[in-house]
Amino acid sequence: MAQPPALARLAGVTELCPNLNLSTSLPKRTDAVLLGMATINQDEPALVGTVPDLDKAYQKAFGTSIAAMATAMGAGAKEGTVTSLPGVDGTRILVVGLGDADVTPDGVRNAVGSGLRKVAALEDVEGLAVAVSLELSDPELIQAAGEGALLGAYRFSAIKAEADPRAVAAVTLVSPVANAEAKAAVELARVIAEAVCQARNWTNTPPNLLYPETFAEAARAALKEQKVAVEILDDKALEKGGYGGILAVGGGSSRKPRLVRMSYAPRGAKAHLALVGKGITFDSGGLDIKPAGQMAGMKFDMSGAAAVIAAVQAIAAAGLKVKVTAYAAMAENLPSGTSYRSSDVLTMFDGQTVENYNTDAEGRLVMADAIARAGQDQPDLIVDVATLTGACMVALGLRTSGLMTNGEETSDLLLDAAEAAGEDFWELPITEHTRNQIKSTVADMRSGGTSRWGGALVAGAFLERFVPEGIGWAHLDIAGTADNPEEAYGHTPKGGTGVGVRTLVALASQLAEG
Ligand code: BES
Ligand code: MN
Ligand code: ZN
Repeated sequence: MAQPPALARLAGVTELCPNLNLSTSLPKRTDAVLLGMATINQDEPALVGTVPDLDKAYQKAFGTSIAAMATAMGAGAKEGTVTSLPGVDGTRILVVGLGDADVTPDGVRNAVGSGLRKVAALEDVEGLAVAVSLELSDPELIQAAGEGALLGAYRFSAIKAEADPRAVAAVTLVSPVANAEAKAAVELARVIAEAVCQARNWTNTPPNLLYPETFAEAARAALKEQKVAVEILDDKALEKGGYGGILAVGGGSSRKPRLVRMSYAPRGAKAHLALVGKGITFDSGGLDIKPAGQMAGMKFDMSGAAAVIAAVQAIAAAGLKVKVTAYAAMAENLPSGTSYRSSDVLTMFDGQTVENYNTDAEGRLVMADAIARAGQDQPDLIVDVATLTGACMVALGLRTSGLMTNGEETSDLLLDAAEAAGEDFWELPITEHTRNQIKSTVADMRSGGTSRWGGALVAGAFLERFVPEGIGWAHLDIAGTADNPEEAYGHTPKGGTGVGVRTLVALASQLAEG
């Protein structure tokens, strides 16, 4: 089927991010330069980042140094502050706060993100060459600066009648070192940021354009340059395979469900990681329909699948030595004469039966099928990502994702990866009491509890039942964090955030190191 024009255009967005370069000096053409302010050893905030030629021009034009001007204009070290100084020789100068204490990767990522966001929001500019000069030589900090720059420069404009011109065309990281390690850090930053921006684009794309069929094709297109085998199971194949959960959830819509299987199997892989993502392209609630106010944001309900597909793209592009088998379970949850109902009993992929509790608890049903399918591949670890419960959002808010696992070792692994990636996760327990809540009198289990309390845990307890014995499993609930309805901050825009991608890539890197 021909793709709708806007989606075709989105598919044609091959440049997800500005170019990213590394240099030991300020490039000749620099339309804007980002410098930093940091407070080191409790001293006064001091300027970080040398630009000798610009400083000379500055002395000539203003009779003072850039550092003195920054201090005079009250530029502080507080993370997230951005101060614009008078420019010189056609170069704009911005000073970003790098934090009051130690300079950390996350501090740098967010500070550079804030700076680039400000540049990208400038009116009537196009194709700017931006330099980021923060005297960073630690590869981890260089990577963080690169990610922050590209993530901060992000904008979503592909569906406007006239696409916004791209404000930032290229970013150069000016670093005292440009050795192989630094170059590898820049390349990794580019690969990761492009994947995050890809995930953001999908989250932001409306459900009349992005539905299971087009989403699956978009996944294939995104992975076509990579050594990843992509297999798309359509509704017929799903019926043949016995995917009772995905079929039930997708049954109400004329846009039929899909399960996308992605396989990356490099030589010398150190471990086998399975990823599973929730891809509900629109969640109306189904027959148990949501009130309009709660339905409004539900195009984002495919963000888990977006994160998983984008992570595979980045892992393969980076050539990480880890085998990854990923599943994106795609369906649209709509009410109609062919919808599934509450009290239906579904036979899931692994043969277990589920008494459906509420058609709005659809995510766990598509995830259960995909998790069980992933288990058949006998991976070492299954990580699922889903915008699963409003309860998780109530518990942890808009900037912290939920983590549930079937073992402490897996929790530690995920929390380490999340920390390295600069994404915030908080572990929630799966208790015996919650497990007892999903007992059914007519089927092997029910898909929901008897009370509304602890809804995130109940969903976790349900998914756990589909993980084969002996396989490590982690469940990431990104309901609160996949879309930012508030103002942009740091490198995080309003709208789709691409949360999860960085943690999954960090996890894969750690597994690849053995
Ligand atoms: N996609 C929603 C989860 C969600 C709700 C995310 C609100 C963000 C904001 C999920 O499919 C859902 O509807 N969950 C229900 C489950 C309930 C019916 C057991 C919920 O959380 O209310
Ligand atoms: Mn729902
Ligand atoms: Zn949902």
